[in-house]
Amino acid sequence: MKLVVAVDNEWGIGYKGDLLARIRADLLNFRRLTDGHTVVLGSNTLATFPGGKALKNRVNIVLHPSEEYRPEGALVAHSLGQALEMLKERDPENAFIIGGASIYRQFLPYCDTAYVTKFKKSYDKDVYFEDLDTSVEWELVEESESHKSDPTTDTDPDLEYTFCVYKRVRPAVIIREAASGDEETVYELLKGIASLHRAIRPDLFGQVISKYSVEEIGNMIASGDKKIFVAECGGKVRGYLIAWAVNNGVKTLYIDDLCVEPGFRRRGAATKLMQRAESFGREQGCRFLLLNVWSGNSEAEEFYKRYGMVERSKHLEKRL
Ligand SMILES: NC(=O)c1ccc[n+]([C@@H]2O[C@H](COP(=O)([O-])OP(=O)(O)OC[C@H]3O[C@@H](n4cnc5c(N)ncnc54)[C@H](OP(=O)(O)O)[C@@H]3O)[C@@H](O)[C@H]2O)c1
Repeated sequence: MKLVVAVDNEWGIGYKGDLLARIRADLLNFRRLTDGHTVVLGSNTLATFPGGKALKNRVNIVLHPSEEYRPEGALVAHSLGQALEMLKERDPENAFIIGGASIYRQFLPYCDTAYVTKFKKSYDKDVYFEDLDTSVEWELVEESESHKSDPTTDTDPDLEYTFCVYKRVRPAVIIREAASGDEETVYELLKGIASLHRAIRPDLFGQVISKYSVEEIGNMIASGDKKIFVAECGGKVRGYLIAWAVNNGVKTLYIDDLCVEPGFRRRGAATKLMQRAESFGREQGCRFLLLNVWSGNSEAEEFYKRYGMVERSKHLEKRL
């Protein structure tokens, strides 16, 4: 699958439901790339097209939750899974994800090529695309010479832009909620954390093989009281995070554990797990993320600091 998007300096892609700028050469490039292929888009993006109409000479798959929604000339998918099923029969290799923000987010893990028009300025914006320049999964393989906008055809008369191609260089890390069947893998990862804690504090964790049993993990997954998110890559779970909302006066998302398989670190999985916890926390009305790091676990402490977390309190102890 491929995607096509136009971004500004900060990877912004839209403002108040519309594009940042309409540049004729960019729209022609979009048409050249997508013509004759299947395009996948969200219903908000369809609404921005002239007359809210589907694109000609392309199979349009539009995502929308409602069964009643029936845009003319388009197929409708009501879920990511349904859209992926529909794509299977329609040359998925050459299908194009064309936005908006919610659709790019969900389909990016399935894309291997990104055609990115880079507007070399910063606009007002309220929706963003993932920054591929800082992603370990993507590499810039082509950037055109710089072009200038045309005041006679373009909404921004004073814009420089380039056409870029990014290629996926590492398989995507997909973050999802743990499901039945994940308990054994999460348990194995938990054992890894327990052995790290044993090394740091043998006096406290000498006997601990794993904080939770396979059964307890299964119960957590089934009840959903404590949320477990897993990082999956190439069909294998490589990391997890456990979190739940607590209310100590201020609603806070407490992160109990974050673990990524040692051989799979530095690929952005831990950051993605934290980002997912953050959005889950916001959805729950939480105003803080909170977690404990054992003194001596400097790798974890450094990671959380880089992630923007700061020290809130100190636990003091006295051996008796
Ligand atoms: N710069 C570019 O290249 C570019 C390209 C396209 C669009 N844009 C900009 O992006 C913005 C629009 O982005 P957006 O995120 O607001 O809207 P969007 O992604 O175009 O559409 C969102 C709609 O799709 C539905 N949807 C999303 N995922 C779904 C799923 N898995 N199953 C069922 N329905 C699903 C949403 O339903 P729910 O309401 O249930 O979530 C919502 O109704 C606009 O500003 C637009 O101009 C920019």
